Amino acid sequence: TGAVTFDPGFMNTAATTSAITYIDGDAGVLRYRGYPIEQLAEHSSFLEVSYLLIYGELPTPTELETFDHKIRRHTLLHEELKGFFGGFPRDAHPMPVLSSAVSALSTFYQDSLDPFDDEQVELSTIRLMAKMPVIAAYAHKKSIGQALLYPDNSMNLVENYLRLSFGLAAEPYELDPTVVKALDLLLILHADHEQNCSTSTVRLVGSSNANMFASVSAGINALFGPLHGGANEAVLNMLRQIQASGQAPEQFMEKVKNKEEGVRLMGFGHRVYKNYDPRARLVKATAHEILGKLGGNDELLDIAMRLEEKALADDYFIERKLYPNVDFYTGLIYKAMGFPEKMFTVLFAIGRLPGWIAQWREMIKDPQTKIGRPRQLYTGAQERQYPAR
Ligand code: CMC
Repeated sequence: TGAVTFDPGFMNTAATTSAITYIDGDAGVLRYRGYPIEQLAEHSSFLEVSYLLIYGELPTPTELETFDHKIRRHTLLHEELKGFFGGFPRDAHPMPVLSSAVSALSTFYQDSLDPFDDEQVELSTIRLMAKMPVIAAYAHKKSIGQALLYPDNSMNLVENYLRLSFGLAAEPYELDPTVVKALDLLLILHADHEQNCSTSTVRLVGSSNANMFASVSAGINALFGPLHGGANEAVLNMLRQIQASGQAPEQFMEKVKNKEEGVRLMGFGHRVYKNYDPRARLVKATAHEILGKLGGNDELLDIAMRLEEKALADDYFIERKLYPNVDFYTGLIYKAMGFPEKMFTVLFAIGRLPGWIAQWREMIKDPQTKIGRPRQLYTGAQERQYPAR
C-alpha cells in the first residue's frame, strides 16, 4: 500500500463527488442544486426544497402535488411500531427514540433491505419523509404523557407535524400561520449541508450497502452530539445558565476565552464558514419578527444578542474566524413555538432528512462509490511475546 495521509477530522479530505449542495465557506455562500439559500428561503417551501434536493430539479406544480399526496398517504405508523414508544423511559431524550424507531422501520418494511431495488428506494424515500415527523411528534407526546393522535391527511407535512405535536385528542387544532411559516423556513435552512458529520455517517454506513433506514438512523445518532445538531439545545442551556447565574455575558465570555472547563460559546464557529454562516443571517433576520409575534423570552434573546455583539468585536473570536452558526438563534425560536428543549435537535433532524436521503441516493447510484474504510497510523506496542507462565 502507498503512503497514508494523516487528516484527523477530515479537514482536507474529499471522500466523494456530489452535485447536491455547494458551500463557499469564505464567501458565506450556500446553494442547493445551484439555487441560493436566500432565494429558496424567500420563495420556496420545505416540501419543494425536499423534492429539489432528492430529485435534482424543482418540481412542476403537478410533480409537487403528487409528491405531497404520496407523503400524506404514508403518514400512518404500523400500530405495532407505536408500541415502541411505551418501551422507553418517559423522560428519555427523543433523539435516541427517533433513531431507534427509524432503525425499526427496516423490520416493518423488510422489502427495503436491497439498496439497489429502485422501486423500494422510492418507497423508502416517501415512507421516511412521511413517517419521521410522525415518529418525532410521538416521541414528544409520550414524554409529556399525552395521547398519540392519528395524522390528519388533509394537512401537509409541516402542518401535520405541528398538530401531532401540540394538538389534543378532544379538541380541534388551529394552526398558527406565523408558526407554520417560521417552521417551514427553519426546515428549509437545515435541509442539506454537504458532507457534515451526520451526512458523512449516512454515506459511510450506506457504503456497506446498508439500506436507507439503517443509514439515516445512524445519521440521526451522529446529529445528536452537541458539536453538531445538539448545539441548538446546548445554546439554550448556555443562555439559561448565564441568566440563572446572574453573571454578565461578558463574564461568561472570559471563561470561554480562558478555555475554562472546556467551555465554548455554543452556536459559534463552523468547520467550513470562516466569514459568516448565511443560514444564521436568515435566522437572525426572522428571529426578531417571530419572537415579536409569538412572545419569546426577551431576556434570553437579549443575552444572546449581547454575546454575539461582544464576540464579533473580540480578538479571540476574530482571530479564529468564529461567527454565529445556524444553531445560535434557532433554539429561541423553537422555544417560542412551544417546543421543549429536548425536541430542538429532533427538529434539526426533520429538516436534514431530505438531505440525508438525497445524499444516500446519490451515493448508491455513484459508480465511484466504494465501501468507506479510512486508514490509520498505528501508535501501539511493537510486536512482543506472550509471556511464558
Ligand atoms: N467557542 C470558543 N472557541 C471556539 C469555538 C467556540 N464555539 N469554536 C472553535 N473555537 C476555537 C477552538 O478552541 C480553537 O481554538 P485554538 O486554536 O486556540 O485551540 C479554534 O477556535 C478552532 O476550533 P476547532 O475546534 O479546531 O474548529 P473545528 O472546525 O474543528 O470545529 C465546531 C468546528 C463547529 C465543532 C466548533 O466551532 C464548535 O465546537 N462550536 C460550538 C458548537 C456548535 O455551535 N456547533 C454547531 C455547528 S453548526 C451546525 C451543525 O453542524 O450542527
